[in-house]
Amino acid sequence: MQVLVTGSQGRIGRYVQARLEEAGHTVVGFDVAAGDDIRDPAAVRAAAQGCDAVIHMAAMLADPKDDPNDVMHVNLQGLWHVLTTAEALDIRRIVSFSSVNAMGIFIGESVPDFLPIDESHPCRPGRPYALSKYLGEEMCRLFTRRSGITTICLRPPWVCFPENYAHVRQRWAENPEREYTPIWEYGAFCDVRDVAAAAVLGLTCPDPGHARLLLCADDVMTSGPSSRELAAQIHPDVEWRGGDEYTRDPFRALVDNSRAKAVLGWQPHYRWRE
Ligand SMILES: NC(=O)c1ccc[n+]([C@@H]2O[C@H](COP(=O)([O-])OP(=O)(O)OC[C@H]3O[C@@H](n4cnc5c(N)ncnc54)[C@H](O)[C@@H]3O)[C@@H](O)[C@H]2O)c1
Repeated sequence: MQVLVTGSQGRIGRYVQARLEEAGHTVVGFDVAAGDDIRDPAAVRAAAQGCDAVIHMAAMLADPKDDPNDVMHVNLQGLWHVLTTAEALDIRRIVSFSSVNAMGIFIGESVPDFLPIDESHPCRPGRPYALSKYLGEEMCRLFTRRSGITTICLRPPWVCFPENYAHVRQRWAENPEREYTPIWEYGAFCDVRDVAAAAVLGLTCPDPGHARLLLCADDVMTSGPSSRELAAQIHPDVEWRGGDEYTRDPFRALVDNSRAKAVLGWQPHYRWRE
C-alpha cells in the first residue's frame, strides 16, 4: 500500500513511518518541517496522488504557548484538507490521530463521570487542543456518513517513548507527589511502538465505518498502589464501574482498550511494570 503520512517527522510519526516500512508499505511523508503545510490544500492533494490510504498526524499539540487560532487552523482545516482530498482521489481509508483529550476529562479539564473510562464516556472538551480533537472526530464521523470512506480516530493518552520510562520513575522517586500532581491522567499511557502498530493495523483491519478508539497500555502507570486504590484515593467521589477484572489484575488500566483491540486486532505489548 502507498500511504500518505502527515506529521511524518514528528515524534510519533517517525515510529509510524518505520513500522509502515517494516510492513512493506510505501510511505509518502508530509510535514511542515520538510516544507509541506497541511493548511495548503493543493500541497495535500499533490502529495496524496497515487496513495491508497492516509495516516494523519500533523497537528499542533496542547502547548499553552500556542495561539489557539493556529491550533484550530492547523488541526481542523488540516483534517478537512485530508478528508476532502481523500474524497476527490477516492482514497478509502483514513487513520486520524485524535487524543484522549477529545473527551475533556484529561489534562485536568474536568473530573470523569465514572471510572474506568471507556468510549461511552460523554465528551466535554473546552480547551483549544481538546476541542480541535473532538471536532475533528465529529468531522470524520459525518464525513464517513456522507462519503462511506473509513475513518478510524485513534485516541492515545500520554505516549511513552523508550527513553521516558526510567526518567519518569526517577522523577517520582525524587518527588512522589509528581505521580498525582498537578494533574492525574488516570495512570494512562501507551508505548509509542504500540501506538505505531495500532495505526498500521488501522489500514487493513475489517472496515468499522467510523470508529473512535482509546489506545492504552494494558496496565496502569503507578509507583505501587493498585488501580482501584488510586481511583479511591484520588477520585473518591467518582462512580466506580470496575468489576472482578480488577481483582484478577489489580494493575489493569483505568482506560478501557478493549474496543481498540476488537476493531484493530491490536494487542499492546509494553507494560509499565516490565
Ligand atoms: N505525543 C502524545 O503524547 C500524543 C497523545 C495523543 C495524541 N497525539 C497526537 O498524535 C499526533 C502526533 O503527535 P506527536 O507527539 O508526534 O507530535 P509532534 O509535534 O512531534 O508531531 C506533529 C508533527 O506535525 C507537524 N506539523 C505541525 N503543523 C503542521 C502543518 N501546518 N503542516 C504539516 N505538518 C505540520 C510537525 O512539524 C510535527 O512533525 C498528533 O496529532 C497529536 O495530537 C499525541
